[in-house]
Amino acid sequence: MIGNLSHIAIAVPDLDAAINQYENIFGAFVSTPSDLPSHGVRIAMVKLPNTTIELITPLGKTSPLKNFLKKNPEGGIHHLCYEVLNISKARDTLIAAGLRVIGDGVPTPGYHGNPVLFFHPKDCLGALIELEEIGLLKDHERHTHPIQPVHSSSPSESFRGTESIGISFDVDFKNKTPEDNGERE
Ligand code: CO
Repeated sequence: MIGNLSHIAIAVPDLDAAINQYENIFGAFVSTPSDLPSHGVRIAMVKLPNTTIELITPLGKTSPLKNFLKKNPEGGIHHLCYEVLNISKARDTLIAAGLRVIGDGVPTPGYHGNPVLFFHPKDCLGALIELEEIGLLKDHERHTHPIQPVHSSSPSESFRGTESIGISFDVDFKNKTPEDNGERE
């Protein structure tokens, strides 16, 4: 049922320091940070050839990351995200197997604008699991994962230097509507 690893999220106390480490020490391509207020996080994406690392830090007073960082003051791996074709079907399968969904079980738009849900770490071998519906992406698009931040105006602004390794970020979500979701599978 699950497909590609969409991303691994690392919660960090200092986003600028984290970006600096990935950009200047690890030598990776890092997006300009953007806010996802509905999830209480500020995010910078590290684009690797085969997946993405999300550097996330709390946004707002009620961010769910605050408790995590209290327990892990240096930061730590916060969740793994798997792609699924149909998030409602995937949710129902996991719930039927006894896994607890976090919140009311209604998918909400994640960073890429795709519907996402989270499942309780206690039911998932100790790892918080996010599911992201990518049902409308064609196979050839999945290799150029859509990590263009929704708030930024142009791909080149968000991803410095990505052209040099031939990664393109021009997947267009404008034609995607909620009604389209779940029609595949
Ligand atoms: Co995530």
